[in-house]
Amino acid sequence: MRAARSDLPLSLDDVSLIVGATTILDRVNLTIGPGAPTLILGPNGSGKTSLLRLCMGLASPSRGAVSWGGRTDGGPESRAILFQKPVMLRRSAAANVAYGLAQAGCPRGLRARRTEELLDRVGLLALALRPARRLSGGEQQRLALARALARQPEILLLDEPTASLDPAATRFVEEIVRAAAHSGTKIVMASHDLGQVRRLAGEVVFLVRGRVVEHASASDFLDRPSTPQAAAFVRGDLVL
Ligand SMILES: Nc1ncnc2c1ncn2[C@@H]1O[C@H](COP(=O)(O)OP(=O)(O)OP(=O)(O)O)[C@@H](O)[C@H]1O
Ligand SMILES: [Mg+2]
Repeated sequence: MRAARSDLPLSLDDVSLIVGATTILDRVNLTIGPGAPTLILGPNGSGKTSLLRLCMGLASPSRGAVSWGGRTDGGPESRAILFQKPVMLRRSAAANVAYGLAQAGCPRGLRARRTEELLDRVGLLALALRPARRLSGGEQQRLALARALARQPEILLLDEPTASLDPAATRFVEEIVRAAAHSGTKIVMASHDLGQVRRLAGEVVFLVRGRVVEHASASDFLDRPSTPQAAAFVRGDLVL
């Protein structure tokens, strides 16, 4: 259920993430407020997943601080994350959603109806009784979204949810994400797809080798990239 205190803005203040001799994120300063989706864009290995894990409170910075609505401890109170590969319980699609609702504190008597609503929202009502692990990749991704939305999160972090999906499945997932954003959930989503920026983003955080190279509105990023790396990415050149 939605917390009384807000987790926004989500702020990273001079954050580095260092593992052994590797600097994964390098002095990141970033403030993410409410509003249209924030897309974390960057090539493979640029640090997108690591940044999402810090935003979620699942990893601690080696230096600097992460804060949620001004708090620096405990992570965000009202959030959900979707990893690159969703992990499904060995139960039906409906049971996976019901589990998410139970975790979110939804009273037992309301769970069946809420499960139905959520499955309907992601277009999986007809597959409610199918074992979740038998669903296709795109269907599993939608089921994972239903489970995440069961928490009614203030912040929904998505790690490349459409990376292995075809255009039809991608459109389906993007519609669900857009609807969640319209109903007030803050979307923070990793992507390496420029088309997705055009279709979904309010703003872009562009990462290259662990550094935030650009943080701009989607239209500025696309029309007036201010760094050579961003310009190359927008042109479709390979940014290494
Ligand atoms: N625990 C770790 N120990 C050592 N190196 C790590 C660790 N986690 C991530 N890395 C390295 O940090 C870099 C960034 O990884 P990360 O998964 O955040 O990138 P990404 O932008 O999400 O990449 P992709 O687009 O492939 O998902 C990579 O070079 C990765 O190998
Ligand atoms: Mg990743």
